[in-house]
Amino acid sequence: MIYLSPPHMSGKEIEYIKEVFESNYIAPVGEFINKFEKSIKNYTDAKNAVAVCNATSGLHLALKVLGIKDSQVAVSTFTFIGSVNPILYERNEPIFIDVDEYWHMDVELLEKAIKKNNIKAVILPHIYGQVADIEPILKLCKENGIYLIEDSAESLGAYYKWKMENGEWRIRYSGTIGEFGVYSFNGNKLLTTSSGGVLVSNNEELAKKAKLLSTQAKEPEFVEYVHKEVGFNYRMSNVLAAIGVGQMEVVEERIAKKREIFNWYREFLNEEFMPELHNTRGTRWFTTVVFKNKNPFEVMKRLQENQIESRPLWNPMHLQPLFKGAKVYLNGRSEELFKKGLCLPSGTTLTKEQVKGICEIIKSV
Ligand SMILES: Cc1ncc(COP(=O)(O)O)c(C=O)c1O
Repeated sequence: MIYLSPPHMSGKEIEYIKEVFESNYIAPVGEFINKFEKSIKNYTDAKNAVAVCNATSGLHLALKVLGIKDSQVAVSTFTFIGSVNPILYERNEPIFIDVDEYWHMDVELLEKAIKKNNIKAVILPHIYGQVADIEPILKLCKENGIYLIEDSAESLGAYYKWKMENGEWRIRYSGTIGEFGVYSFNGNKLLTTSSGGVLVSNNEELAKKAKLLSTQAKEPEFVEYVHKEVGFNYRMSNVLAAIGVGQMEVVEERIAKKREIFNWYREFLNEEFMPELHNTRGTRWFTTVVFKNKNPFEVMKRLQENQIESRPLWNPMHLQPLFKGAKVYLNGRSEELFKKGLCLPSGTTLTKEQVKGICEIIKSV
């Protein structure tokens, strides 16, 4: 079976897990959690990082720390439900925004939504390893006193070539621009810890608060279990953090391979692919295709018959039974993408021959 994006270990992970076992810190505390957080900070240039049990809990913490409850939160409709469930955990109302030609939140629709509602935060998903056009969204948020949270679950390693005020160019990683950003390390991500997440913020106070809330809000200066507010048990295990440290050592290698796989698909298939925003580097976590004349569900079936996994593009949130009647700002793009697109196998052990074979099956439909 060829899977969509299976785990790909570097070989170092098992050595680090052995170290964890030798130390006996088989617990949600330990040296590898610190090392994993440090490696994320070094790589992304985020000032603070908090390892958590998954990205969904990271987004929940971000909203909690920023005090976003019983409010309205804008989010792309073209995303995974993990971007949206945390909005509901705090009894907020999600407001769904359709996407631009780069498949990310459309800034003009967001502006309309901001004018008509009382939006307190924006959750901006960067999907399929690519990044949203964040600058105008950031500007809009700043002008309206709205918090920006980046859902970078799918886009660790994607970056902007950012023009600074002094005219110089700087690299800024996905997740490090809003008040908070979150990365996912679940089983099919660019890197995996089996399940896991890291919340980042350049604001030390906010990050400290997130860490506190992730550890049952146990006040750190007391040994006798003092709690002043509601907390959560959202910590990452030291065992899983050891896997994360091993994975981070090959992050650029994995991105290079994902991008190579994308180029192979482009070589073999005469179809349309997800565009890459100017002045950015995406990771091509998934190669996603939009068919000119094929039904993606038929292609998916044919691939499945050949033991090849593929998946539909995101089924828009505003079409979900859970969100019947929710406020939504549409331009038709997400529905169109869902009808025509497909995620293709993008695992980093794929060979060019395998990709060619997959493309031949697709072309036979
Ligand atoms: C866009 C997006 N947001 C959030 C999540 C949630 O991540 P996790 O599974 O680590 O909770 C995922 C992936 O699962 C995702 O793809």
